[in-house]
Amino acid sequence: MIDQSTIERILDSSNISDVVSEFVTLKKRGVNQLGLCPFHNEKTPSFTVSPAKGIFKCFGCGKGGNSVNFIMELEQLSYPDALRWLAKKYHIEIDEKEETQEERQMKDERESMMIVSAFAQKYFSRFLLKENEGRTIGLSYFHERGIRDDIIAKFELGYCPDGKDFFTVAAQREGYKMDYLEKTGLTIKRDDWVRDRFGGRVIFPVHNVAGRVIAFGGRTLTNDKKVAKYINSPESEVYHKGRTLYGIYQAKRDLTRLDKCYLVEGYTDVLSFHQAGIENVVASSGTSLTLDQIRLIRRFTPNITIVYDGDEAGIKASLRGIDMVLEEGINVKVLPLPPGEDPDSFARSMSASELTEYIKQKETDFIKFKTQLLMGTVENDPVSKAKLINEIVRSISVIPDNITRTIYIKECSRLMDVQEEVLYSEIRKIQNKQSEDHTRKELQEVQIQASRPAAPVGEKKIVNHFETEEREIIRILLKFFHEKVFEIEDEETKEVNICTVGMYVLSELQNDGLTSVNPSFQFVVSTLEENIDNKSFDPIKFFTQHPDVEISQFASNIMADKYVESKRWSKGGAFIESEHELLYLLVPKLVQEYKLKKVKMMLKKLEHQINETSKNGETDKMMECMGQYIKLKEVVRDLSALLGFRTIS
Ligand code: CTP
Ligand code: MN
Repeated sequence: MIDQSTIERILDSSNISDVVSEFVTLKKRGVNQLGLCPFHNEKTPSFTVSPAKGIFKCFGCGKGGNSVNFIMELEQLSYPDALRWLAKKYHIEIDEKEETQEERQMKDERESMMIVSAFAQKYFSRFLLKENEGRTIGLSYFHERGIRDDIIAKFELGYCPDGKDFFTVAAQREGYKMDYLEKTGLTIKRDDWVRDRFGGRVIFPVHNVAGRVIAFGGRTLTNDKKVAKYINSPESEVYHKGRTLYGIYQAKRDLTRLDKCYLVEGYTDVLSFHQAGIENVVASSGTSLTLDQIRLIRRFTPNITIVYDGDEAGIKASLRGIDMVLEEGINVKVLPLPPGEDPDSFARSMSASELTEYIKQKETDFIKFKTQLLMGTVENDPVSKAKLINEIVRSISVIPDNITRTIYIKECSRLMDVQEEVLYSEIRKIQNKQSEDHTRKELQEVQIQASRPAAPVGEKKIVNHFETEEREIIRILLKFFHEKVFEIEDEETKEVNICTVGMYVLSELQNDGLTSVNPSFQFVVSTLEENIDNKSFDPIKFFTQHPDVEISQFASNIMADKYVESKRWSKGGAFIESEHELLYLLVPKLVQEYKLKKVKMMLKKLEHQINETSKNGETDKMMECMGQYIKLKEVVRDLSALLGFRTIS
């Protein structure tokens, strides 16, 4: 662990344009700098660096943050590793803080397991390339399969000598402990014997995103059907099969650069694609795709093309994952292969350019694929056709993006010869059902929130209907925290007190018990409350440089928001006053608008409750809701009047 003062020193020394310039050519543009975004493919620059604020923001893909976030994203490093990267650049010595016993043990354990794995990988590689048995058996196997030496080196392939425990003995001789050999699964240990797990097999090391070896796959060289074709490392502290993608380390650069990911099934599929010059490819390694794996890909690109084996099982497998992928806002395409081929055999049957051409021709978006696949079987059967339409519409309805959904509906309408209107109405039916469920859930949430201010965001994303308003409130708070909104004269003492933006906004939020479902928002608000009288507290610096990535990114992104001020205030006027001069108008307006929207939302929920309770004949409850409803209506009227008045002035 790095101690807090070192972290601050690193953050203070890090100059964002300095850091970014190591990867991107920047040109001066006003007070900012502009360049081509390293996180997505673009021809005209929309990647902006603000040296004054110490942050970057791409207006094309939306990525933004401070120096640490930039390094984390670009080099795919953890927060502490990104700090170490920056420390190295600025020649800052790191004092690693004392860890608790437990932390150290856990870290030591994981670290030791990775160190053993790294040793094993080197041992297997050396054996493959240098030892007689490795060369005649392992290496010649790879060569027979047409795998080139540069690919063998790139993926650090290896061979484990045939026999009971050659590897285990060698590892122990080098001082590696049996405990870790066993925990990584490299050695299988029983009471009275030990043996190598991978003896006599060629080895495919599995790397994590950072490039460290965390597991192995071993393939048998025999055709004996009774022998398992692949044996894999067991699940362990460092290896979770469902969270790992084979090839991710070798693919990550091109995943980002080409903004696309090919998803195949096996180790050899990945190798053959690389050999054909296609490097943005990963394998789910024979399991069906998990949500964690999808999210891992999503960190690099939202575009996935599933390349599946041309048999039934392959087709079924690729259909299974699709709704899950769509729900994550990912664009899915499918590349069907001829029957009997897998990506490996197929890629090797042609030249690299032929493969690229085939992909270009045959890649199909999933709706088209699913439709064509299923249409054949239902051509003249109206009932099955209706079922199919429902099935496809269901897939479309989970897509979060409006435009994408619209495009799919058009396509689907054309392919299935159904009017778009019919499809829309089907989708509405599904969505109504979903939104009913959703409202019910939200009502429950509201009740929970009443007793617990900051609702933690769990596995399932909570929709925040107030995001725009909350971002704007935070932006104003951070930017003008200590500034004056207006002066208040005490009626009795005639003393004049200054009300700052911080005091005004925070007390308004507090008085009305306004909280957000967004934990970052809540965190910022409560931290500001603690520092309300602390004149030397610099909120922008504090939050954009916060060690919790979630917080620093939240703050940096907000500070990079395009100015709303002109839009808000330029309407009738011939000149635009800066938002600084208009704080006394802008700040109350923002807060009241936020309140108004909250109240309107509560009204909607009450309406729903009134309907439900009256349907169920719960008269008492219904009357109670009605009472609340009428009161809230009054609040809305007051707030609207207030806002109306303010906007006219
Ligand atoms: N797999 C596994 N265990 C098995 C069989 C398969 O873990 N017993 C995983 C491996 O990751 C394998 C993938 O599933 O790469 C796909 O399996 P398969 O298509 O049978 O193997 P290929 O990758 O095609 O291997 P090869 O070309 O060497 O037969
Ligand atoms: Mn194969």
